[in-house]
Order: sequence, then C-alpha cells, then structure tokens
Amino acid sequence: MKGIILAGGTGTRLLPLTSVLTKQLLPAYDRPMIFYPLNTLIQAGIRDILIIVSPEYSGSFLNLLGSMFRGHGVNITFVVQKRPGGLPEAFILGEDFLDGGPSTLILGDNIFEDDFSEAIGSFVSGGRVFAKEVTDPERFGVVEFDEATGKVISIEEKPSAPKSNFAIPGIYLYDGKASEIAKRIKPSERGELEIVDMHRAYLALGELDVRTITGAYFDAGTHDSLLEASVYVKEKDFRSRFHPIVNEAITEFNAEFKRLVSLKK
Ligand code: DAU
Repeated sequence: MKGIILAGGTGTRLLPLTSVLTKQLLPAYDRPMIFYPLNTLIQAGIRDILIIVSPEYSGSFLNLLGSMFRGHGVNITFVVQKRPGGLPEAFILGEDFLDGGPSTLILGDNIFEDDFSEAIGSFVSGGRVFAKEVTDPERFGVVEFDEATGKVISIEEKPSAPKSNFAIPGIYLYDGKASEIAKRIKPSERGELEIVDMHRAYLALGELDVRTITGAYFDAGTHDSLLEASVYVKEKDFRSRFHPIVNEAITEFNAEFKRLVSLKK
C-alpha cells in the first residue's frame, strides 16, 4: 500500500495567510499542518509516499521534507500539479508512482485522531472511505445511509441541504483501478474533478466500503477550524502520540538546522 498526500490547491478560504504560505505548511500548533496527515500514513505502516504540491511552493516542501526521512525508512517523492484540477487528479498524476497498486489518499489539510492501521492493513480491493458525524455537513462530501440496512443510498459534494450529518473525511483507500476511474471522470460545474465521483464509481461497481470513525477530525481549511485544530492538538498532546519515526525525524531536522545556523555565525 502506497500513500499520496494532496498538498496543492489555492487555499483561498485562508487568505491573506495563504498569499504568502501554502495552507499545508501553516502551523497547526507547533508544526506545519502536513505533518498530521504524514503521521497518519506512517502510523498505518505506509513507507512510500507521494506528495502533490503546487508550483509556487514546491521549493518549500522540498526544503522541509526532501531529506527529512532519509535514514528513517520512509521514501518521499514529489509531483507538481500545475493547477488545481480536483482531488481525483492525484491518481492521474500519481499513476506511475502507484504502478497499478492500491493507495491511501489523504488531504494535506485534514487532521485525524483515529489510527487507520487496521483499516489500511486489512484493505484488499475496491474502495474504502469513512463517515464521521459532524455538525456542519454542508462543508463536506456527505453520505446518506439506509437506516434499516446500513447501505449507502447517496453521496453528495457539499450539499446545501445535507441528507445526513455524516461527512466523508479526506482519507480514501482505493485499489489499482483508481487511475483509470479518475481518467473517466468529467469535471463538475466548478471545473474540477470531484472525489465524490470516485466514491460513486466504486459504489456503482458494488465495491465501496464505508466505515464510521469516532475520533476527533478537522478539515483545517478555514480560520476557525485551523484554530480549533491547533487548540485541540495542544490540549490532547498529539505531539507525544506521533509515530516515533516522525518525532525523531523532526528532532534531527531541527538539530541539523541549528548546527548549520551556528556555522554561518
Ligand atoms: O476535507 C474533506 C473534504 O475535502 C471532503 O469531504 C470533500 O468531499 C472533498 O471535496 C474536499 O473538500 P474541500 O473543499 O475541503 O477540498 P479542498 O479544495 O480544500 O482540497 C483539499 C486538499 O487538497 C487541500 O489540502 C488542497 C488540496 N488540493 C485540492 C485541489 C482541488 C490539491 O492538492 N489539488 C487540487 O486540485
């Protein structure tokens, strides 16, 4: 299982912050936001990770993560997305990287408390997405279940009148068909490929598994949710719950940075 982190996009909901720094490098408390999805993948045993970045900030990502995990058994590769064409483009830009195998796609601005080791480790084929009960479903992809059977009835992207309170958060497991399916999706009215169309394609094949998660979850893409996420990760001491590989790599990176700064003096 390989991992992809989507860390491009324009981040217009976080202006003016995102006019000088890309969203996924803004701090969620004491570390750039991207470390949270990165940790989620590493915690679940994924060691081969593709990070999709925008051209403007590719250098910043490379400076931070280009060699941070060298010696820690985690391979990080980058691909530049020239313009934000939608989340399913991850499987098109990542086609060579995936080489026909399964992947977990996670959004660079999504912060999860849950540990996905079991859900990712037990994945065999088809698609697996998650449902998280929220108070503001209109901000998300929304899944509606049949109350009696638990089967999925509908999936909609940011509906103005949501049919349920179950958001589909930004972590998606798909098998090797993902790239071909993504290439067949047509852009929506806003001119982007929509991730809900990937879920629907797997649903139509009878291959979509939806699991409920209960841990805290933040889409840190607005000022309020970023603040809320920062306070939560501080209070719950997420830092100490990060996988040791991530904490060790950050500690080494900081030490090396300080060493280089002292040499310049
Ligand atoms: O956060 C979960 C939600 O994420 C899902 O419930 C929705 O179904 C899904 O469409 C998505 O909605 P958002 O409006 O929150 O997506 P956003 O445009 O913020 O993009 C999510 C991340 O992906 C963000 O880190 C930017 C990055 N991105 C986005 C696009 C459209 C890219 O790297 N490339 C892109 O083309």
